Amino acid sequence: MCNNLNLFNLAGKKALVTGGAVGIGKACATALAMAGADVAVTDIDEQTGEKTAAGIRELGVDSIFVKCDVTSKDQVQAMVATVVEKFGRLDIGINNAGIAILGGDEDLDQAAWDKVIAINLTGAWLCAQAEAQQMIKQGPAGGKIINTASMSATIANCNASYDASKAGIVHMTKTLAAEWGRFNINVNCFSPSYLLTPMHASTPLEARECIRNLTPLGHMERPEDLYGTIIFLASAASNYVTGHDLLVDGGHTLNAWLVPLGREVPPRVSPEEEVVQMKKDLDAMGVEYDENGINEDLHPEIANAFKGMLGL
Ligand SMILES: NC(=O)c1ccc[n+]([C@@H]2O[C@H](COP(=O)([O-])OP(=O)(O)OC[C@H]3O[C@@H](n4cnc5c(N)ncnc54)[C@H](O)[C@@H]3O)[C@@H](O)[C@H]2O)c1
Repeated sequence: MCNNLNLFNLAGKKALVTGGAVGIGKACATALAMAGADVAVTDIDEQTGEKTAAGIRELGVDSIFVKCDVTSKDQVQAMVATVVEKFGRLDIGINNAGIAILGGDEDLDQAAWDKVIAINLTGAWLCAQAEAQQMIKQGPAGGKIINTASMSATIANCNASYDASKAGIVHMTKTLAAEWGRFNINVNCFSPSYLLTPMHASTPLEARECIRNLTPLGHMERPEDLYGTIIFLASAASNYVTGHDLLVDGGHTLNAWLVPLGREVPPRVSPEEEVVQMKKDLDAMGVEYDENGINEDLHPEIANAFKGMLGL
């Protein structure tokens, strides 16, 4: 008899996650481990990444940390080689490392634009290429490549550098899916909305409330809200899905004209519950924060941009 849950079982699979030390990358690593995969956590933040890999091992799978800056082709190639040396093969690659900047494009330095594109888009391409080379070498079993995009691929949100990098991820995903289908490699991406990770530790309370009011499901996104998406895209459950951008946004992008919501039912998740995982990440990074999980100094440009937008 067919046990449909086997579709989601990743036992024996070998995976890597870039930008895996905290936030969305750590959520990806956690989800893969919960489904049984061994996971390499890779990041530029060695200290936090080692702690994350240790936490993943506590879930009963193997995990290593590999330091890698995704903007360097040499480091990316070496990182994949290290993962294969340790795990013997590579079945799943999640290309997630990224940064965000806010602020008007009329004043943006070219260096800031270049940095965002280099990490978010070129970095993901370098990683996808190195992963595909390994998967092709392994033969017909193929593999799963998953890129972190964003709702900013389809709505105007941060600024042109970030939004263009994420729109680039979505279309790069489609092209790579078309190119690598013949190797049995699925290439997909997923698009979160405003997700409470260290990236958003400086987002003011007023902005969080505003985001909640613009989100039909009523709460800000948490790392754990991605677990099911990641397991689906990494597992046999998505074997005939490729080139897809899976929006995971609580309905946020549907909501342009439904403001305010006038919601009568309380949201399923309270503001206190929203920040639980983010506070754990900030603890691991050694970053202080207030009772709401806010540290305005971690990303002052994000704090200032939101304050400007909301007239605070
Ligand atoms: N948080 C959100 O609201 C949100 C929403 C949609 C998409 N995203 C995307 O999700 C991804 C992860 O975001 P997050 O919120 O977890 O961010 P984060 O800042 O909390 O964590 C990002 C991680 O990437 C690492 N990193 C940064 N530059 C790197 C590089 N050059 N090489 C390797 N690692 C690097 C950092 O050290 C950090 O561990 C990014 O691609 C981001 O654009 C975030």
